[in-house]
Amino acid sequence: MPKPAVVVENLVKHYGKQRAIDGINFDVAGGICFGSLGPNGAGKTTLIRILTGLIQPTQGRAWVAGFDVSQGPDAVRRAIGVVSQAMTTDLDLTARENLDIYARYYGVSYKERRRRIEALLERVGLTARANDLVASYSGGMRRRLEIARGLIHKPSILFLDEPTIGLDPQSRRVVWELLAQFRQDEQLTIFLTTHYMDEADFLCERIAIIDTGKIVVMDTPSELKKGIPGGNIVEIVLAQDQSLTEDRRLDTLISKLSSRPFVQQVIQKEGGALTDSIRLQVYVTNGPEAIPILMGMVQDEGFGLQSIGLMRPSLEDVFIHYTGRSIRAEEGQKVNFFIGAGVPRRMGG
Ligand SMILES: Nc1ncnc2c1ncn2[C@@H]1O[C@H](COP(=O)(O)OP(=O)(O)O)[C@@H](O)[C@H]1O
Ligand SMILES: [Mg+2]
Repeated sequence: MPKPAVVVENLVKHYGKQRAIDGINFDVAGGICFGSLGPNGAGKTTLIRILTGLIQPTQGRAWVAGFDVSQGPDAVRRAIGVVSQAMTTDLDLTARENLDIYARYYGVSYKERRRRIEALLERVGLTARANDLVASYSGGMRRRLEIARGLIHKPSILFLDEPTIGLDPQSRRVVWELLAQFRQDEQLTIFLTTHYMDEADFLCERIAIIDTGKIVVMDTPSELKKGIPGGNIVEIVLAQDQSLTEDRRLDTLISKLSSRPFVQQVIQKEGGALTDSIRLQVYVTNGPEAIPILMGMVQDEGFGLQSIGLMRPSLEDVFIHYTGRSIRAEEGQKVNFFIGAGVPRRMGG
């Protein structure tokens, strides 16, 4: 049986009294894309920093590519590529220069360097801009360059911390396709963290949902969705109506819905591009039983109903099911665009 790419045993990390990682265990099989999905503050960056040798755990052990991460990080670092949450490519250098500096640090030979840099630039779609300063790049271009940089020394495992945070939807999609392709072509294991459900769903074969430093549940995306009671989210679309401009009435409806014991949460959604209808998602303990009651409540508050029905579970629902909270409420963190400082310390030896 092939060795797992990552093994984590009873891992704990405290920052003072803060338990950032609170006793976690898992293996990542070689060749898969593994996602650690959780809200802001869950411990994702801390976990990735331990696995990539940047910080030491308080307790427990971890092996990456067969190396114990606490026994000197150099062996581990040669086997892995890292794309950190903050953008760290050097703005004052061109894309080609950024890649060349990294390749030199990793001791890639001149011949191999030239071949590898050109191939990677091509793969991430930056050949035409390779001699432009990174300062002139968009966030998406810079992220693509950082992925190329992470792969410059042909690592077997690529770690990415929130790879598409702060990118527009189209650039996120490009990064996803790129990662899926690299994984296949380079026989990479990918370990990523994300707070985007759609990202984990698109890229990962296996997902550990983490919250407050603990693994809440871990499985394939489809098993995670199958594992929660289906049909417990009722979507209500309110009929378009002039009087709906009265926000106060909507607030009353939402608070009345929320106060029912079988209602866990009410989320108001944007109506969508072509309509200005109001959509509510009501998380309930039993969808089919809740529908007639909710219908009555909507009508009692004087709203017309355009539609009401059960939704298929998403990873968001899986998170809510296990934690009682929405992951989205935690969104809104920003990516840091660090200036310069993109070079790792020289490898030992
Ligand atoms: N260097 C640090 N010192 C003190 N607390 C920290 C430090 N880094 C992270 N934390 C805390 O540990 C918890 C987990 O943080 P982090 O690993 O960054 O989570 P995530 O990446 O999932 O948002 C948070 O409560 C955070 O405030
Ligand atoms: Mg983080």
